[in-house]
Amino acid sequence: MTIVTSNIDLAAQFLRDGKLVAFATETVYGLGADATNDLAVARIFDVKERPQFNPLIVHVASNEAAMALGRFDSHATRLAEGFWPGPLTLVVPRTAACSASQLVSAGLDSIALRVPQHPMARELLVAVQRPVAAPSANLSGRISPTRPEHVVAALGDRIEMVLDGGECLVGVESTIISCLDASPVLLRPGGVTRESIETELGQTLDTSCQVGAAPVAPGQLAAHYAPRAAVRLNARDARAGEALLAFGSPVPGQAETMRNLSESGDLVEAAANLFKFLHELDAAGVDGIAVMPIPDTGLGVAINDRLQRASVRISDQ
Ligand code: TXA
Ligand code: MG
Repeated sequence: MTIVTSNIDLAAQFLRDGKLVAFATETVYGLGADATNDLAVARIFDVKERPQFNPLIVHVASNEAAMALGRFDSHATRLAEGFWPGPLTLVVPRTAACSASQLVSAGLDSIALRVPQHPMARELLVAVQRPVAAPSANLSGRISPTRPEHVVAALGDRIEMVLDGGECLVGVESTIISCLDASPVLLRPGGVTRESIETELGQTLDTSCQVGAAPVAPGQLAAHYAPRAAVRLNARDARAGEALLAFGSPVPGQAETMRNLSESGDLVEAAANLFKFLHELDAAGVDGIAVMPIPDTGLGVAINDRLQRASVRISDQ
């Protein structure tokens, strides 16, 4: 049974224990997980039935906490000072010391950060003392929830807890601004108007990458993560010069460099390890990465989608 409660300390304890807790923000209810816990973050994708690994927004209690995770240029600093806490999300480069799971960034070297305004969300984040990853608490492709009953109806017994913070007053998602390049880019319109952001910055926003209210799939992002090494799918073993990305039991003694997504064949564990292992194998300097077959069910669909994209080299496109 999903517990519906207004006990903030209990919700914080659940999050620290790796459980999923939906909580109110001023925009919509978020489906929260400890952003530093790979497995908890992977469960978000499982529960939402997302067919792809969209990067997630990471929520923190203060601007200082945000600045430990992301690098803020002058535009990002200005927007954070002007609109946080509030319905604004900033996409910035990850810091070298960023403690958030690579899965929240879907393997990208950027991170989406937000300091929400809702008093219960703020108290929860202070109590958790960790960054909290949270997409809207609905099934993929459905309407975002603005009341606790919406969350219970949509996600039923799939999550451990709903922290009841009443009705969300803004009711639409946060505005997302990317501060990765010289000029800030509006990625998604939302709770903070474009006009007020332009006034704060003293310049007009680039809106050419705008995606409406629809989520941005990593494939639509200008720079989604692609390994340098060639990725070969449905491999049984590694060839000379290749590292092995295994799933289940690999043929023994095949690869010098190997990571196993999940020895027991657990797809949630595999999702939790995917981007971390791809980065590690790529950094090992191998020519190629041989990937064992992964079942195309549940989270396997998102894993295979991502691996498929990684296997298409830029020159092949
Ligand atoms: O109001 C909101 O923003 C709510 C509450 C819970 O905070 N959250 C929300 O999350 O709407 P979600 O996951 O439904 O939408 C997050 C959006 C997606 O379109 C995703 O692609 C984009 O943020 N995003 C996250 N990280 C990104 C990144 N590193 N680069 C570009 N886009 C990113
Ligand atoms: Mg959403």
